[in-house]
Amino acid sequence: MPKIIAANWKMYKTRAEARETAAALARLLTEKRTDRQVIVYPPFTAIAEAAAALDGLACAAVGAQDVYPAAEGAFTGEISPRMLTDAGATWVLTGHSERRHVLQESDELVGRKTAFALANGLCVMLCIGETLKERESGCLREVLQRQLQAGLAEVAPGDISRLAIAYEPVWAIGTGKVAGPDEAREAHGITRELLRDVLGAAAASVPLLYGGSVKPDNAAGLLALDNVDGLLVGGASLEAESFAKIVLA
Ligand code: 13P
Repeated sequence: MPKIIAANWKMYKTRAEARETAAALARLLTEKRTDRQVIVYPPFTAIAEAAAALDGLACAAVGAQDVYPAAEGAFTGEISPRMLTDAGATWVLTGHSERRHVLQESDELVGRKTAFALANGLCVMLCIGETLKERESGCLREVLQRQLQAGLAEVAPGDISRLAIAYEPVWAIGTGKVAGPDEAREAHGITRELLRDVLGAAAASVPLLYGGSVKPDNAAGLLALDNVDGLLVGGASLEAESFAKIVLA
């Protein structure tokens, strides 16, 4: 399967800034022969601009950073799959570490978001990952198992072809501390194994991305590891030049 390189812009960029970065990215990647799939996750307000700027780049898609599991209704501040699709998003992140740990999102809510977004035609990148405390207390497998079981509890078998998993160790996000090859290989191996328990044979074709302090100089090494099918990039995706280097790594 083609490697997926995804940019999570988090709460950065106005519409004009998003348009500029996406247009620069399109320029840098046009005519570069790459079989990589590129996904950009701007803030909600800039999804339409980013989608328009990336329209001519066949390998690129745009996604949203979150979604609410209802079609519409009295959910102040939330956004539905149909609204995201209407803005030009085809992907959505669920369970990002910042939503779990800063916004206190539960495993159960992440599961409802994942299933609902898939059922409504979006591709979903479910994020999982352990804190430093959990890793140091030997709970890596247990945490990943809990997050995968709850995150995928309601997913319909027919929707698995639109699912990806991003392993992002919380201690590596925004810290400059990337998981070493052994740590990443181990966590991705465990994730693949646990996915098999939850999804059966379909687990083999679900892309597993690594995220956490990915930079142009460590991207190729991470992509070479077994069971690393792509990268989810935060800080280093905010500049078109550095993100393009990661796409082409
Ligand atoms: P950084 O690349 O800034 O560590 O962020 C990773 C991340 O959270 C991507 O979703």
